[in-house]
Amino acid sequence: MSVNAYERIWMWVATFLIAAFVIVIVLTAGMQAVHPPSHVETLDPATLDAHPEFGKPGVFEQPDGRIVVVMVAAMFAFAPDPVEVPAGRPVTFRITSSDVLHGFAVAGTNANTMVMPGYVSQFTYTFNKPGEYPIVCNEYCGLMHHAMTAKLVVKERQR
Ligand code: CUA
Repeated sequence: MSVNAYERIWMWVATFLIAAFVIVIVLTAGMQAVHPPSHVETLDPATLDAHPEFGKPGVFEQPDGRIVVVMVAAMFAFAPDPVEVPAGRPVTFRITSSDVLHGFAVAGTNANTMVMPGYVSQFTYTFNKPGEYPIVCNEYCGLMHHAMTAKLVVKERQR
């Protein structure tokens, strides 16, 4: 069976591209810890107000120095707003929704996750540049989706 020369070339091009994509995925996962920004942690969205953690959203410094931001997304706002975090320190976001699917994205950064009712979306991000960043909902969640924003304030590190 003979294969047309052009067909053979394109088969190799396709094989090369697939191999390149797999290598990129493996390298970014292994060397830059790139992975889906979530883990499986569930809660009851109907009783969020009484939840020991999500009943009081806010920014908390843990005894070991970690910064944890506990957030609730709901039509059509985020709590707390504004969010104030220090620059140059890892900040762990823990976010859930009390109603429908929302998004959470800090404009101009890679801090970005889906926010699902019933689940905790968690990721850690270090903001190196002080300033004010808009937080936007990037999953369509209803009539005022476009107005669902908040503000992140990254404060200069105190020494
Ligand atoms: Cu919340 Cu779109």
